Amino acid sequence: MSDQQRITVRVPAKINISLAVGPLRADGFHELTTVFQAVDLYDVVTAERAEGIALAVQGPEATGLAADDTNLAWRAAALLAEAGQSRAGVALHVSKFIPVAAGLAGGSGDAAAALLACDRLWGLGTPMAELDALAARLGSDVTFALYGHTALGTGRGERLSPISTTSEFHWVLAVASRGLSTPSVYRELDRQRQATGVPADGAAPDRVVAALQAGDYTALADAMGNDLQPAALALAPELARTLEAGVSAGALGGMVAGSGPTCVFLAQDRATAQSIARDIQASGTCRFAVAVLGNVAGARPATLPADQ
Ligand code: C5P
Repeated sequence: MSDQQRITVRVPAKINISLAVGPLRADGFHELTTVFQAVDLYDVVTAERAEGIALAVQGPEATGLAADDTNLAWRAAALLAEAGQSRAGVALHVSKFIPVAAGLAGGSGDAAAALLACDRLWGLGTPMAELDALAARLGSDVTFALYGHTALGTGRGERLSPISTTSEFHWVLAVASRGLSTPSVYRELDRQRQATGVPADGAAPDRVVAALQAGDYTALADAMGNDLQPAALALAPELARTLEAGVSAGALGGMVAGSGPTCVFLAQDRATAQSIARDIQASGTCRFAVAVLGNVAGARPATLPADQ
């Protein structure tokens, strides 16, 4: 057993550089082919020994988030306790910096961080393959949050293979003043496809993978894309102005991040990303914009050196 009383894990947000949505499956999920990348906007999850499970959520992006057993961090702790046949308890504390319902997998990240933190706190030493399986049960993006960096995701997004790239990627996130519910964006995509008769192809992101491996930003901007974008734009038409603002500010390319409503822009370097973020913010088309670095590590205990 571990004698640790307190474990802190930080976990990054993710973007989808390519998101190809295939057909709706019988289980209510869509078959995906996606390229995930972790970016350096982090939530911080602390786990302390306690009786039963308790959760507190605070921080600049905590507004409106339930701190009860519907929260993915709580569910992660409960699932791990059940799987590890542990009677140990935990008081979880989540500091939210990743916006909620923004398409950045903040909730999934908190679940991944809670899994890792509770595993250490309770001294379970759960093998990574088992943590992966638990992560996949919690949500489609939770497995990626355990690993971070850049990966190809298939299945509903939980089957991962790493994409190696030595380059740095500079992005700008433009965060909207409201959230979008992921299921409603997928439902809108299905509705649009039915109405227009366009088949769900879930195309392979070969050009994105090649551009990432080559560190070719122009090719990456040209190849990146998100099948959910038309659905997110239908539900939040004001995002068209945010996308325009980023491109006018000098981004190589821009798109909706995941199921939105955050918009993400590729910049050629850090200084340009910062200036694009300032310009988008000044355009008044988002709640705030921030420059982030892509290809960072996934959920990691804060006491260990991060392998970024
Ligand atoms: O797995 P996660 O909880 O993040 O998924 C949230 C919702 O997004 C699902 O209930 C489903 O409506 C939709 N979704 C989907 N296909 C995926 C992933 C998510 O339809 N591959």
